Amino acid sequence: MNVHVFASEAQAARAAASLFAAQLLRKPASVLGLATGSTPVSVYAELARMHEDGVLDFSRAVSFNLDEYVGLPKDHPQSYHSFMHRSLFSRVNLQASFLPDGEAEDLPAECRRYDEAIARSGGIDLQLLGIGSNGHIGFNEPAREFAFGTNLVDLAQDTIEANKRFFYSAADVPRRALSMGVGTIMQARGIVLLALGEEKAQAVKAMAEGPVTPRVPASILRFHQDATVLLDRGAAKLLTR
Ligand code: PGA
Repeated sequence: MNVHVFASEAQAARAAASLFAAQLLRKPASVLGLATGSTPVSVYAELARMHEDGVLDFSRAVSFNLDEYVGLPKDHPQSYHSFMHRSLFSRVNLQASFLPDGEAEDLPAECRRYDEAIARSGGIDLQLLGIGSNGHIGFNEPAREFAFGTNLVDLAQDTIEANKRFFYSAADVPRRALSMGVGTIMQARGIVLLALGEEKAQAVKAMAEGPVTPRVPASILRFHQDATVLLDRGAAKLLTR
C-alpha cells in the first residue's frame, strides 16, 4: 500500500483525479470503478473540468459504481444514481455507466447480474474508494467475514448516522444497500483510496497499521498489489509509520 499525505484536501483530491486522468490517457477504453459520498466530489469536479478543457475524453470508457441504496427511487435526489448524474455523468462523455439497481424486484439476481456485467466488461481497471469512519469500503460494513461478490447489505448504525446529513433525518436513511463485495473490489487492477478529514483518522490508522480483518474491511487493501492511499493531514493524523 502506497500512502501519500498532502497538506490540504484539495491537493489530495487533485492527486486522485490525476491518477484517473493518467489511467484514461494510457487506456482510453478503461473500466472505471466509481464511488459516492462527500469525498469524491472534488475529484469528479476536477475530471469534469479536464474534460471540458479538452484534456480528457471518456467516450470509450465505461464505469461501475460501488453501491446503491435499496428501495430509494433512482430519481430521488439522494440516490447514488442521482448523485453520480449530478457530479459526473452529466458533465463528461462516458460511453456507459452502471450502478446496482436498488429497485430490482429480485435483489440476489441483481447482485449476480452486476458481477457478471463487471466481468463481461473485462474487469475494473482503476477503482476509486472512500473509507467509512468504521472502516467500510463501498457498503461493506465491519463483519465476521469478507463478502466476495456484490451483495445485499444491512447498513451499520454508524453509517446511517454518518449519512443522515444527506437526508431529512436518520429515520429517512435507507437501511439496506447493494454493494460490490470486497472480493470484487480486490479484483480491480488498481485502487485509489481517498480519505479526507480528522473524522477518518481512526479508520485510516486501523486500515494501514492494524490487523487485516473483516472487522476493518479496508484493511484487506494491504494485500492488493496496486493500492494507492491519498490522505490530507487530518486523515493521516494518527499514522505512526
Ligand atoms: P464520505 O463517505 O465520503 O461521505 O465520507 C465515504 C464512505 O463512506 O465510504
